[in-house]
Amino acid sequence: MPQDVHCIIGASGQLGTELAVTLHNAGEQVVLLDIKAPSLPALLELPFEKVDVRDQAALCAAFGAHHVTHVYHFAAALSARGEQEPQWAWDLNMKGLLHVLDLASSMDSIARVFWPSSIAVFGPGSGPVAAQSAFRLPSTVYGISKNVGEHWCSWYHQHRGVDVRSVRYPGLIGTLAPPGGGTTDYAVEVFDQLHGPAPYTCFLQANEKLPMMHMDDAVGAALQILSVPRAALRCNEAYNINAMSFDPQGLFAEIGRHVPGFTAEYAPDFRQDIAAGWPDALNDDMAREDWGWSPKIDLPGLVQSMMEARRIASPAR
Ligand code: SER
Repeated sequence: MPQDVHCIIGASGQLGTELAVTLHNAGEQVVLLDIKAPSLPALLELPFEKVDVRDQAALCAAFGAHHVTHVYHFAAALSARGEQEPQWAWDLNMKGLLHVLDLASSMDSIARVFWPSSIAVFGPGSGPVAAQSAFRLPSTVYGISKNVGEHWCSWYHQHRGVDVRSVRYPGLIGTLAPPGGGTTDYAVEVFDQLHGPAPYTCFLQANEKLPMMHMDDAVGAALQILSVPRAALRCNEAYNINAMSFDPQGLFAEIGRHVPGFTAEYAPDFRQDIAAGWPDALNDDMAREDWGWSPKIDLPGLVQSMMEARRIASPAR
């Protein structure tokens, strides 16, 4: 049987980089697509195509040339940047997804597609712990594009037979590549500013609680949902997944256990309004039942892992 070929679109981004490293380390065949070449030394030996996902012909050529079987489509504008450039964000997010779904429906070689949805599909009225089928009135361009994208995934599955699978990611925290323009980015950014001369200035309120996840669990979720038989999946849109919830003051207190003297101050900006509309946590019972979702990393584990990645020695606890 020919080997699976995993194509990551947005491979130089936060999630794409981590998935590429995981698949490559597992001995899988990986093709990287992005408008920006990879910079991580571990990825430089992998095939890379400079492709803008808005260019469907270029996308088609890359899929064909590499005999792609699995597509992971991560290229997107996130919530904060999307509010500043709404037309650009809508164009990128919707055109990209529709191109991928359309090619997956017409190219027999493509067996499965993974596309991430987000907690941003929720908004006022979704409740503090959003149920799988909670009311969804997203308040950002990013959230609207993810919400509509979920409906497109369901449509392409039901009417074109595309095996596309999705989860609603919370804020993702990892070490290999920075996030780009999200509302949850403070929880990554702070780790690069632990030893600054001034306190870290957080753009959210001290008590703004949000769902969050370590990147290892995020990559695990994508690989796990793609690995189960389609018949196991009751949800044709995107599954809620949940790992941990914290607010800035809770994260900073945990960091303080490793970095004595670390201090933060708060200067909430427009991103606070976005965060305020999102739930504190998601109910992920359906993901647990259908495909065995179970996160492994909690808040202490997350901070420990970020410290180790930055080689910051932690005092005994
Ligand atoms: N991390 C994303 C953002 O903040 C949410 O999915 O935009």
